[in-house]
Amino acid sequence: MNIYIQIAYLVSSVLFIIGIKKLNKTSEARKGNQLSAVGMLIAILATVVQVEAITLVDILICMVVGGAIGLYIAYKVEMTQMPEMVALFNGFGGLASVAVASSDYWLKTQEKMVDVDIITAISIILSVFIGGITFTGSLVAWGKLSGKVNGNAITFKGQHPLNLILFIVSVVLSVFAVMYQVDPTYIVGLVVISFLLGILTVIPIGGADMPVVISLLNSYSGMAACTTGFVLNNNVLIVAGALVGASGIILTNIMCKAMNRSLISVLLGGFGATSGGGPTAEGSDIVVKEVGVEEAAMLFDSASSVIVVPGYGMAVAQAQHIIRELSEQCEKRNIDFRFAIHPVAGRMPGHMNVLLAEANVPYDKLIEMDEINDDFANTDLVFIVGANDVVNPAARSNPQSPIYGMPILNADKARTVIVSKRSMGKGYAGVENELFGYPNCLMLFGDAKQTITKVVGELKDM
Ligand code: TAP
Repeated sequence: MNIYIQIAYLVSSVLFIIGIKKLNKTSEARKGNQLSAVGMLIAILATVVQVEAITLVDILICMVVGGAIGLYIAYKVEMTQMPEMVALFNGFGGLASVAVASSDYWLKTQEKMVDVDIITAISIILSVFIGGITFTGSLVAWGKLSGKVNGNAITFKGQHPLNLILFIVSVVLSVFAVMYQVDPTYIVGLVVISFLLGILTVIPIGGADMPVVISLLNSYSGMAACTTGFVLNNNVLIVAGALVGASGIILTNIMCKAMNRSLISVLLGGFGATSGGGPTAEGSDIVVKEVGVEEAAMLFDSASSVIVVPGYGMAVAQAQHIIRELSEQCEKRNIDFRFAIHPVAGRMPGHMNVLLAEANVPYDKLIEMDEINDDFANTDLVFIVGANDVVNPAARSNPQSPIYGMPILNADKARTVIVSKRSMGKGYAGVENELFGYPNCLMLFGDAKQTITKVVGELKDM
């Protein structure tokens, strides 16, 4: 029997690896997701048939209840709430690692009264420690993103020394937990300290850095699962955990680079105290030129090349479907129509790709920043839809700006730029965008979906 289970685990692991590889390309991402889901189903079935401690009925009840909750949440969640949902998933992954590792420790040292060997003991300690930090850290991240707790960076004097002291205490407790296995106090202490550290390390991190932290916590949850795999001697858990751990850390690195932030500065916190995105016209001294829907439609009609730059506002307005209609109107007129995708446009990696794919925009029309940036200078019309920070020229030219050094889309270089947004409200980074006052820039104020619907209506009538 064991050989069949190991073969099933091997098949799952291979499916996970192929699945994650396919996520690399937008056109293959759905397939990758399906393959990974099949891999997970095989892993679950293989695990269920070898369970001894509880009955199959117990497991089925748990699976039905858990699955129903997951299904309900997945249907209910808005695209803009994805990061907080991922935070919750990571947190529960971390909690599961803590529960499995500490109960294994309890079972062996308190009930069976056997000595846990050093490798298993280290795996248990890492599982508990990383899982504990992931659990409470993710809950704080979820609270901040959903507005349930203060989203600003919360800092206090002596915060970093306190974290260091707690870390040293946890190392001491870990050593004792290995040396004195008859006494469960040390492992309980380790759980408590790791929970505390999770809270204290995430509270100083503010708004704009939160998605980076979520990605890092995702990596932690993978590492915790991987070490739990060693505790249980479960190969598929080791492979899946290592994949999540490694891909999470790679993603964190990509996000930091795209936002011109170092991981250390993110972890030390203090940036991004604003939540941004609200219609705050007050306070802007930029003088702008407005454009109406009719004039905007005429500019589309007379252009021979158009690049759309989507941003967070497109997600808020759910304007992706009407933008696809706009692209169809332009293509009818033989206008070259493409989308420029900034790696951190929106609020999560791949946010724009997912929304545009949902609206059936062909994948080959979505062009990454590095590939399209030189083309803006030869483009007749750039249409910025609910994007702000990712096209802010201050990132190139103003060393005083908090976003200085962040790579941006060169939208300002086009012959004409139209910006669709509701007001002069700032973006996530909370900074003014001088582009809106440039001579080649026209503001199309209003909710993106409503205004673009009117522009498309005008184009249809032309
Ligand atoms: P933002 O700079 O956040 O700007 C979004 C703009 O959308 C706002 O200025 C807002 O202006 C407008 N908007 C909101 N609702 C709208 C609606 N219904 N219709 C039209 N416009 C609307 O967005 P971005 O350019 O996509 O940049 C993303 C930001 O998030 C960057 O600073 C990035 O560093 C940060 N961030 C992203 C990620 C990932 S992974 N994507 C992770 C961490 C941080 P009005 O209020 O005037 O309408």
